[in-house]
Amino acid sequence: MDLLENEVELVEKLCERIKTEEGKEKVLDVGCGTGKLSVYLSEKTGCDATGIDMEQEKIEKARKNSLSGKVEFEVQSAEKMAFANDTFDAVVSLKALHEMANPKEVLEESNRVLKSQGRILLIDWVGGAAKTKGHAHAHKYFTRERLEEVLLETGFVNLRVELNKEGELMLVEGRKPNYK
Ligand SMILES: C[S@@+](CC[C@H](N)C(=O)[O-])C[C@H]1O[C@@H](n2cnc3c(N)ncnc32)[C@H](O)[C@@H]1O
Repeated sequence: MDLLENEVELVEKLCERIKTEEGKEKVLDVGCGTGKLSVYLSEKTGCDATGIDMEQEKIEKARKNSLSGKVEFEVQSAEKMAFANDTFDAVVSLKALHEMANPKEVLEESNRVLKSQGRILLIDWVGGAAKTKGHAHAHKYFTRERLEEVLLETGFVNLRVELNKEGELMLVEGRKPNYK
């Protein structure tokens, strides 16, 4: 499954941050849709990827799209996940956070299922930017500042934000602190 032209730059950056020498990071893709990001990450980095989406039909398509069968797909709500605490090394998402009814709950749940020092890496449209103001869903997009605020409120630290060349998509990274 091919990435859209506007996704390539930030998805490649996201991949670089998932790569480890062992290639064994456990990665969760929230709002995975038909599995584009999870399958791409699995193929590019060798990570152990799982995708969740609340729509059964999308998950069925995602399973068909994962030709290697290496990616797990499950129907789950990102606001109330079935995973145990401290399960994943990274939570990722592509153009999905703005579609979630309770994004703050999604970020709290992401924090819960991450291991200490685990990272969240979200790609989504930039709210308030000239390039995205005309989109049908523009009113649902986070501004960069608001997303940083909510990530801090939900327990993430060491935030880092990058925009793509056009300034219409952002890659936002945060880390779950080590409480020990
Ligand atoms: C714009 S699509 C992006 C899909 C995929 N990440 C991609 O880039 O192709 C957003 C997805 O979020 C899913 N979604 C919305 N709310 C959700 C929730 N609360 N829990 C899980 N998935 C959700 C939708 O079903 C949809 O598949």
